[in-house]
Amino acid sequence: MNTQAQSAYKEIDHTSRGQSVEKPEELQTYQQAVQNGYYSKDTGGLVGKYDNVRRYWEDELTGLVVRDALEGLLLEKKRALERLRILDLGCGSGEGYELLTNIRRRTSGVETTNSLLVTPELVGLYLGIDISQAMVEQGREIFKGNGKVVFEPGDLREGLPAATGTGPFDLYFSSYGSLSHLNDEELENLMTGIAKHAGGHALVVLDLLGKFSYEWQDEWGIETLNQMRNYSMAYLCPDGQTGDKEIECFPMRYWSQQELEQLLGRVSQRSGRNVNLRRSFDRSILVGRHMDTGLYNPKVPALRRAVNMLHESNHRTDLRDLLFDYHAKPGFDEANRFFEKLQMAWNLVVSYCIDRLSSDQMDPEHKNLDAFLEPVAGAVKTIARVINNVRWMRMGDPRANIIEPQLAYALRSLETGFQQGKGYAHGLIGVVEITD
Ligand SMILES: C[S@@+](CC[C@H](N)C(=O)[O-])C[C@H]1O[C@@H](n2cnc3c(N)ncnc32)[C@H](O)[C@@H]1O
Repeated sequence: MNTQAQSAYKEIDHTSRGQSVEKPEELQTYQQAVQNGYYSKDTGGLVGKYDNVRRYWEDELTGLVVRDALEGLLLEKKRALERLRILDLGCGSGEGYELLTNIRRRTSGVETTNSLLVTPELVGLYLGIDISQAMVEQGREIFKGNGKVVFEPGDLREGLPAATGTGPFDLYFSSYGSLSHLNDEELENLMTGIAKHAGGHALVVLDLLGKFSYEWQDEWGIETLNQMRNYSMAYLCPDGQTGDKEIECFPMRYWSQQELEQLLGRVSQRSGRNVNLRRSFDRSILVGRHMDTGLYNPKVPALRRAVNMLHESNHRTDLRDLLFDYHAKPGFDEANRFFEKLQMAWNLVVSYCIDRLSSDQMDPEHKNLDAFLEPVAGAVKTIARVINNVRWMRMGDPRANIIEPQLAYALRSLETGFQQGKGYAHGLIGVVEITD
């Protein structure tokens, strides 16, 4: 548990809402993060916004979920000889543009060069809207020289900003919790505005905080979980760097798939458009940011830190740090069953790897890999194949640089295989389709 983060935790009442576009409560945290460089890519793989889990798990998985929906839309645009118009809601400094233009096409994946789904020349306009002037300015600086990437300040709590008046977008995108800053009424109004603004066929990507993440298990079931809850971004400050500064909390809404569907039903009625949840995806079930802080559930293991270590080159991780015991919460049978099964599967894959690396006398239960069900079988077979194939290498530390990253990818596949899109993870991605 990160005690520094906990002592820095401070409840702030944000019930009063001023009229100005820039609300100081959001600005201070994000502005400070920008100023301290925690919002840059240069903080290394173990901490900060762009840690290894964000790069190799979260961005990749978000891209895959978006790809499945975007392929069809892109084909329509190409046939109409039109370029793609993207609106990024709560864009930060344009991370969404990078994420979207780095999605790989469905190929074998071993070509010499990356084959990308959304190439820059397919983009007609990327308009990023953010409440934080610091983010907007950082975005303008990063993308200066690229006239198709534009940033404007705006407060989404007040609906679609005037800057979107240039016509409908094909993709209304958001990433990493931006829209969890809005309460139910504000999100419903925004989505209704989008449904009316969109042309004949459009996609909306919502990336919200999941309601039943293990990270905040202590909060499951409390009445106010249906309202805005104070949320800390203490994880953006690496250990020992918070100094005397207090990390603020600001209100965020946690969502389940069911609640999202209900909201979209209301949006359909109000807009007169078909607004359907095409897919929902639980992203980062055991590796959410607050697994490492333990701020909302002191029982969680610091699994994000351990997985970040697996991806780190030339570093040997103590694999026992990945083993954990899920503590069930009475009254939540379905969620408990889900997490218990995932815990069993996760520990099994990690134990198998430890077993294969530490002794020639394999545990009898690990001998018949065909006895495991998917997605566990796929994960252990991957580990088996990798270990068998690198044993002969004498240079370059294959344990740290080949086996450990592959174990991380096997665990990522496991999470992906188990996820149900119900709100059981840090992030709940919803891909929404708008049609007439
Ligand atoms: C967690 S960051 C995500 C940034 C970026 N989308 C990414 O992928 O990294 C959330 C962003 O939402 C912005 N935000 C918060 N409340 C907002 C509001 N009411 N209107 C517009 N942007 C808002 C913040 O300034 C911040 O940049």
